[in-house]
Amino acid sequence: MKKIVVFASGSGSNFQSIIDATITGQIPGVIAGLITDRENIKAIDRAKKHQIPFQVVVPSQLKNESEFATSLLDVLSNFETDVIILAGYLKKIPAEVIREYEGRILNIHPSLLPRFGGKGFYGLKVHQAVVDQHEKESGCTVHVVTEEYDDGPILGQSKVEVNVDDTAESLAQKVLALEHKLYPKVISDFIKTIK
Ligand code: GRF
Repeated sequence: MKKIVVFASGSGSNFQSIIDATITGQIPGVIAGLITDRENIKAIDRAKKHQIPFQVVVPSQLKNESEFATSLLDVLSNFETDVIILAGYLKKIPAEVIREYEGRILNIHPSLLPRFGGKGFYGLKVHQAVVDQHEKESGCTVHVVTEEYDDGPILGQSKVEVNVDDTAESLAQKVLALEHKLYPKVISDFIKTIK
């Protein structure tokens, strides 16, 4: 079974959908661990509930980017990581880590990339921009992580209609519901291709 390590910074509702999909067998892998950049987040409660080991690596407590990368690589090696899944992780993954796990890191982004992606497009800002530009549809995208923000090969997308009365908040809810279906499916397909 491939070993999955999830990175999260917040609620971890996508993390939960991945946990659930490993339990049902939809994802043919085990979650070896959770890595977060902060304490006291709901994602950690979810890990505890499911007896998933977790490690908090706080970048501001480390000297520089290189130490951050080394700490992450140590934790990833201890977890014997095959695949890294970013699920609402708000820190930029150091280039060293991306190189070490090249082609084995996935991210989910709450828009139809390449639209509304890149630096500064995160959380509600994405949905606000979609509403402000009177887009007719939005959605979510799962992509391979490369050194450019939100730029790697796209593995899957789901779409939803944007209604005239949608707000950033209502759109966020609709897109999140799509994410919970799309991410486990794409992870499952992806894992089967990994040697
Ligand atoms: C999701 O909208 C995801 O697309 C983005 O961050 C959010 C994380 O939500 N990358 P959650 O922590 O999984 O609930």
